[in-house]
Amino acid sequence: MKHVDISISILNANFLYLNEEILKAENLGIRYLHFDVMDGHFVPNISFGAPVLESIKGKFNLINDVHLMISDPKKYVDDFIKAGANIITFHYEAMKNEEDIFSLIKYIKEKGVKAGISIKPKTNVKVLLPFLDLLDLILVMSVEPGFGGQSFMDSSLDKIEFLSNYKKENGLEYLIEVDGGINNLTFKKCALKGVDICVIGSYLYKSENMKESFEALS
Ligand code: DX5
Ligand code: ZN
Repeated sequence: MKHVDISISILNANFLYLNEEILKAENLGIRYLHFDVMDGHFVPNISFGAPVLESIKGKFNLINDVHLMISDPKKYVDDFIKAGANIITFHYEAMKNEEDIFSLIKYIKEKGVKAGISIKPKTNVKVLLPFLDLLDLILVMSVEPGFGGQSFMDSSLDKIEFLSNYKKENGLEYLIEVDGGINNLTFKKCALKGVDICVIGSYLYKSENMKESFEALS
């Protein structure tokens, strides 16, 4: 099985000890830190904003993978770029038209930050076809965005497979990331379909033994 990276979601971390929680991930060799930004409008939950990212900027040797589950990503992109985002992923469903999507992707990339688009479970993966040669990352939601700790939706596997085949057939480089309900069983299912990065929150941060749970993923 090819190597699959983990992007650990701090959504379910213990915020009282955020420094220690992130260090635990870094010490396991995890390379990506996933920031689930929620505005209480695009999704029925509110999480945190750029100040949290700012507070950890430059403190860890991790790739800051920002997932904007917000209604007006264009309005806040600069805040997250300034706060140290390395990847900014916005939702297809939050955008008015393809023109706005093209310009936001270009804007993010011109700032030297990688650009990603995420699709919800009910969104057809083919809506992304016009953008795939521009994108650095596609985030396939395997749960309805808004909360950690939900169950994995198998329908996301076909999207991962489609994106993996399309990438090979067209010589593209985008990373395929999946987010929601990833554990030792669903991790393997996604890896076999060609995913590059798995977002994991509760399986690791709510585990009795994070190291053991991590080792069960390989
Ligand atoms: C949903 C969030 C979650 C989180 C990880 O909007 O994006 O998917 O990252 O959640 P779990 O706890 O399922 O790994
Ligand atoms: Zn996420």
